[in-house]
Amino acid sequence: MKKMKSRIASICLALCLAALMAGCAGVEKKEEKTGIKIGVAIYRGDDAFISSLCASLENAVKDKEEKLGKKVVVNIADAKNSQSSQNDQVDDFISKGYDAICVNMVDRTVAAVIVDKAKEAGIPIIFFNREPVEEDMAIWDQTYYVGTDAREAGKLEGQIVADAWKSQESRIDKNGDGKLQYVMLEGEQVHQDSLIRTEYSVKTILNEGIVTEKLASGTGNWMRSPAYELMQEWIGQYGSEIEVVLSNNDEMAMGAIEALEENGMSGGNGPIVVGIDGTEDGLEKIIKGEMAGTVMNDARGQAESILGIACACAEGEDPKQEVPELKGQYVRVPHAPVTADNVQEFIDYKNK
Ligand code: BGC
Ligand code: CA
Repeated sequence: MKKMKSRIASICLALCLAALMAGCAGVEKKEEKTGIKIGVAIYRGDDAFISSLCASLENAVKDKEEKLGKKVVVNIADAKNSQSSQNDQVDDFISKGYDAICVNMVDRTVAAVIVDKAKEAGIPIIFFNREPVEEDMAIWDQTYYVGTDAREAGKLEGQIVADAWKSQESRIDKNGDGKLQYVMLEGEQVHQDSLIRTEYSVKTILNEGIVTEKLASGTGNWMRSPAYELMQEWIGQYGSEIEVVLSNNDEMAMGAIEALEENGMSGGNGPIVVGIDGTEDGLEKIIKGEMAGTVMNDARGQAESILGIACACAEGEDPKQEVPELKGQYVRVPHAPVTADNVQEFIDYKNK
């Protein structure tokens, strides 16, 4: 009898333990569900602007968690400029049941593959910075894009140059021929921002009644070192004839400034340099007087919109409530011109 009792007791204990363990597993599952998992696929992590956008995303997560009262996990995958790696990374996010996926396409023309997969899995998708073509955006209404208006960036950049020319023509017009001789550093040719920024910066200068002459242009693929190489070449070819360096972004402007410095042509001695992005390095060069201006490409604002849409979708809410700037499937975060007059304001904004 005693034996029997103890057997029953141990069976009970085993059952209780099993129930407890099952309970724990249940709790764990529930906890997982009460958090949000967001996958972020970036085209290349060594891009200065994209890495600052990622830093802003990570910062914004803390606020989001407080606001929602739940865990928000953001997992960033770097495609290192390979579209096939990026497709694999997105597949991985899908198979792991992420709640939303944010994609900075390597090749923006092949977004359909990703939209199709996300649609099938029912996982909302937020593209950013590298804009898919309209047909691909139209495949599924839970596809969004967060970026900027490249025309606006180009116009503002051109305006900085036009204003500088008007207020210091005698300094900028080195050869005194009344024409603005410039070189143009372009971003990746496949990127929607490159051609448009180039076109509208020059158009704006012309619209201000300034006569321009293009000495040279070339692509530095958004990156510092190819821009440095190009600038060295142009300095060798045109030397002090170069009056303005227009760059599609700040990183390439940094490469140009490095080349100018090496040739004793930076700051007041050489051409004025203007960029786009308002990276930390860019803002610092404005403070030092080595860059005439830049156009703020608001990484923080874009990160907040991306995260806002992703979390709202994950929660099954209307993203327009969370991100009022969302028009249809698009958010275009505004730019702002930055010169020595207002640069501190932007340094403060970035550090906030
Ligand atoms: C930025 C560049 C960046 C590129 C990456 C552009 O909008 O201005 O700095 O390299 O996006 O896609
Ligand atoms: Ca001139």
